[in-house]
Amino acid sequence: RVAPGTLIELDEHADPRGSLAVVETGKDIDFEIKRVYYLYDLPVATVRGAHGHRCLRQLVIAVHGQFEITVDDGFRRARYLLDNPRRGLLIGPMTWRNLINFSPGAVGLVLASEHYDESDYFRDYDEFLAAARSAA
Ligand code: TYD
Repeated sequence: RVAPGTLIELDEHADPRGSLAVVETGKDIDFEIKRVYYLYDLPVATVRGAHGHRCLRQLVIAVHGQFEITVDDGFRRARYLLDNPRRGLLIGPMTWRNLINFSPGAVGLVLASEHYDESDYFRDYDEFLAAARSAA
């Protein structure tokens, strides 16, 4: 079983005017982006996420500053540092995630495969764990 979460490196176009990074469906990610949201004005001690999704796929990017993401598929856990706008963390379905250790002023960008749907969430870890283990 592979560790949950996949770090990807995005193409960067840097020149004397500054830098630009790109995410393209079919190249960097294998889902159509139906929703984009971003996290900002985050207290440094905050914990975001703390839920799982049944179907949703997401790419998370620290477009400014840095933070960590722990991911857990019910069998394995992994921890990733996002500290570069060129790096993205792909999180698949049936993965519990916590976003932690935000640097002051950090901004997290999330590209998501589906519209917001509360019924896709696991908000309870034990419920998530039972579902993840029974699905395997
Ligand atoms: P939540 O999913 O708990 O945020 P996070 O995972 O970043 O910690 O969502 C926080 C609130 O925002 C909650 O009331 C649901 C709402 N929300 C939407 O209405 N649409 C969205 O696309 C998202 C991600 C959240």
